[in-house]
Amino acid sequence: MTFELTEEHLAVQMAARDFAQNELLPGVIERDEQQKFPAEQIKKMGDLGLMGMMVSEAFGGGGMDTKSYVLAMEEISKIDASAAVVMSVNNSLVCWGIEKYGTPEQKEKYLRKLATGEIIGAFCLSEPEAGSDATSQRTTAIDQGDYYLLNGTKNWITNGGSSSVCIVIAQSNPEAGHKGINAFIVEKGFAGLVVGKKENKMGIRASDTHSLMFTDVKVPKANRIGPEGSGFRFAMSVLSGGRIGIAAQALGIASGAYELAIEYAKQRKAFGKEIAQHQAIQFKLADMATQIEASRLLCLQAADLKDRHQDFAKASAMAKLFASQAAMEVTTEAVQIHGGYGYVKEYHVERLMRDAKITQIYEGTSEIQKIVISREILK
Ligand code: CAA
Repeated sequence: MTFELTEEHLAVQMAARDFAQNELLPGVIERDEQQKFPAEQIKKMGDLGLMGMMVSEAFGGGGMDTKSYVLAMEEISKIDASAAVVMSVNNSLVCWGIEKYGTPEQKEKYLRKLATGEIIGAFCLSEPEAGSDATSQRTTAIDQGDYYLLNGTKNWITNGGSSSVCIVIAQSNPEAGHKGINAFIVEKGFAGLVVGKKENKMGIRASDTHSLMFTDVKVPKANRIGPEGSGFRFAMSVLSGGRIGIAAQALGIASGAYELAIEYAKQRKAFGKEIAQHQAIQFKLADMATQIEASRLLCLQAADLKDRHQDFAKASAMAKLFASQAAMEVTTEAVQIHGGYGYVKEYHVERLMRDAKITQIYEGTSEIQKIVISREILK
């Protein structure tokens, strides 16, 4: 299978690459160290059309395909994986979810602003006791006639502090199990919503990850996404798409570290020659290049299936499983090639290695991806 990139794909890739070099690279080390959310940069990403790439033009989006999204995510993630996760959650989990499953009123009210980056969104599924086991939602949304009363706590929410709207998954009928779960669009201004503490993370430190607390939050009926009881399937479907974004983030982290390792290996001399001339380094570079190429093909394959409206759940889980593992291995080798320089914060590979780890954890751990893949192949 080959993936011919069109002129349009190449233009998107180039625009994202230029943006990352010119706007994200300056200050990326400081933002990581100070855990400073890249608000100004995200605003510019919205202006460039990166926050709602796949949203139709009718709602202010880019009207692009998922392959364009993968290409842009790779370029942004090479330089700034924190900005990339903000972009990924907004594009895949929030915008795509509302466009595919939302009502015309919800799209008019929320999607346009989200797609242009005027506001950003968050996706609230994980709880203190429901991360991988997503059906065990303790957050409740009880039907009160015109509205649902929302109570509970969500943890590790990407864009938790910076978002204006959140998609919240909650249980409305515990007896019905996952068929009692609903998804809601909740505005940050709704009374009873409190943003909790910001997590002090190992990687993607410039993204803001918070817990969110909901106490008797009144959510209008009109803000439920999809029919009553469809929230779990909504979450699973949206996460399948989100995994393509995170796989592309992992791909970008790996290719960013690989490019830095090549550059370093060509200028650093040891034992009388550039270290790139030593076979020990060449073998590492060959392995890294192969893992990156395989990750890219898996990402594009999942994107292509999604664009052709085929089932992509297995393909996106495979892409995320493989690319996140590759990101961990490639960034570790990139640090190794840099030697002592790779272990200090002035060199980007140190940050990329820390950033890589989360790609094996969020939007389903590697173990969850294996569950999804094995269920599909045993069907
Ligand atoms: N699309 C649509 N529906 C789907 C689906 C998909 N891809 N996958 C499953 N479903 C449906 C099933 O068909 C089933 O529906 P019916 O009963 O009507 O047939 C229903 O969902 C339940 O499916 P399962 O029986 O497979 O559910 P399960 O309880 O066995 O769980 C799981 C499956 C794969 C383990 C799931 O719980 C899961 O994916 N867990 C991980 C959750 C996750 O990714 N959390 C990350 C948090 S979000 C995040 O990280 C965002 C961020 O901030 C970056």
